Order: sequence, then structure tokens, then C-alpha cells
Amino acid sequence: MKKEAKIKPFWYSDVWLFPKLITIVTTLDEQGRVNAAPYSHIMQYDVMAKNARMIVGFRQDSHSFKNIKATGEFVVNCPSAEHLDEMMETAKFYPEGVNELEHTGLTMIPSLRVSPPSIKECPQIAECSVDEVIHLEKSSGIIIGKIEALVFDEELIDLPREERIRRMNLPIGLGDESRMDYFHGVNYDITMHKLGEPKDAFKGGEVQLGMTWEADALQSLMTIPPGVRKMVTDQTENFAQEQQQDKVTLALFQQLAREAGMSDEFFDRFRAK
Ligand SMILES: Cc1cc2nc3c(=O)[nH]c(=O)nc-3n(C[C@H](O)[C@H](O)[C@H](O)COP(=O)(O)O)c2cc1C
Repeated sequence: MKKEAKIKPFWYSDVWLFPKLITIVTTLDEQGRVNAAPYSHIMQYDVMAKNARMIVGFRQDSHSFKNIKATGEFVVNCPSAEHLDEMMETAKFYPEGVNELEHTGLTMIPSLRVSPPSIKECPQIAECSVDEVIHLEKSSGIIIGKIEALVFDEELIDLPREERIRRMNLPIGLGDESRMDYFHGVNYDITMHKLGEPKDAFKGGEVQLGMTWEADALQSLMTIPPGVRKMVTDQTENFAQEQQQDKVTLALFQQLAREAGMSDEFFDRFRAK
């Protein structure tokens, strides 16, 4: 049997369990004083690279929200699980103008592209400027932040994913009770699942090539979703013939995609990484 729960203020934490990213947002006030506080109401907003953006939700009277509106910049720092106590320290209601980081062992370092500092102990950092501010009536202030830089500890950037996950050791926010007791998931088990293909995924995916394709063009073609691969093959070969080419190159394949209104970025989403 299922039972409906009442939707009440702080439903996203007290009622609905919403595992989340834990971050410490650093900002400057108009006088250049540093502020730091944890935020986990955060999510990707625009996933494309051209105008990559994140969405972050604040109490409208929080120092962070006011500072971001005043200065147009903020940094999202993701602490690893070893720094949860320090993260919690920055959540305390210190008066305006107090740099919460000074009450922790966390270290400020200059950011690469924005003025608020970054936190050295955080392996993953997003430097952001303000794209849009939304004031929800009698509710949250939402900042849509343009990502100016995604910054990582150098030695982590090229690690295979599982090792990167383990080394970063990001805690998972599991909500709180009455804004007093905060729960976090740490040292979790990591499982990996292969997506695989549905049973008849390749129905329509087999391609009969009518002309020569250069290896990188063919590789790109094979990353097009099987359902549209045949159509894309035929269109590309027609296009190559129109262009009086005797083979399909990657450049030609991409040119057609652009002319058909599908950017490289669009295809990238379907490309096996
Ligand atoms: C783990 C954690 C996550 C939090 N996430 C948010 C959040 O997403 N939005 C929010 O308004 N407050 C959040 N808070 C509460 C703020 O951090 C807290 O109100 C803080 O004092 C605000 O500081 P500021 O006024 O310096 O911005 C969170 C607190 C913790 C401990």
C-alpha cells in the first residue's frame, strides 16, 4: 500500500528524500569581504557547452544571494567528505561581513576567472557569473549562473571515472531534520551499470555504405543513434555526390549536420565517450 504525504514547507528535505551535491558557495560583498555558506539546491541548467549554466537556489535574505546580486559573481566549491565538519561550520548564522572560512581550516585561493576566492581543499569547483536572477514570490531566490570555468585538482582531471569518483570522495547530501540535524552519505559503494541496447536496437541501424567513408567519418556515423543512422547515411552520401566528392570525410559529414540544423554539440550527445 502507498500513502500520500502532506506537502509542507521544506518538503524537499523533510518529506521527499532528495540526495544532493554538497557545495560551499563563496562570494564577495560590495566591500570585497568574503562570505561562504553551504548550498545544495543546485543543478545543471543548460547542458550545452556554448552557454553552460547552473541553477542555484537561495534564501532571498541570505548573505550569499545578496552578494551575488550585488557583485554578479560566485564560486561553487565541492568539498570532499573529509571536510564535512568544516562545511557545517560555514552554515552557521554568522553576522554579515564575517568570513566563515576563517572559522574553519579551509584555505582560500584565487579563482581563475572571477573575483570571489575558491577553496583549495575542494577538488571540484565551478566559477560562475550571473546570467539571470529569479525572485520567487515569498520563496527562494534563484540564480542562473553562467559557468566561467570548471576547475579540478590537476591530478584528478584525466583519471578514469571510477578512480576520479573515489578520489574526489564527494559526500551526498541526504537532507536535514528541522534545519538542525544534517544527514550525509559518505564512503558509498559505487556500482557501474552498462546501458546496453534494447533487444531490437539495431533494427534500422545496419548501414549499407554506397561510397567510401574516411575512418573518422565512419566512426562518427556509428555514434549516431541506430534508429536514424540509415537515414543519415543516405543523406550524407547524397550530399557528398552533390558536392562532387568521391568519399565522405568527417568535415563533410559535419558540414551536412550543420546545414541540417544539427550542431556538432548535438551529435556529441549521442557519441560514445
Ligand atoms: C548541507 C547544507 C546545504 C544547504 N543548502 C542550502 C540551499 O541549497 N539553499 C539555501 O538557501 N540554504 C541552504 N543551506 C543553509 C545555508 O547554508 C545557511 O542558511 C547559511 O547560513 C546561509 O549563509 P549566508 O547567509 O552566508 O549565505 C544549506 C545548509 C547546509 C548545511
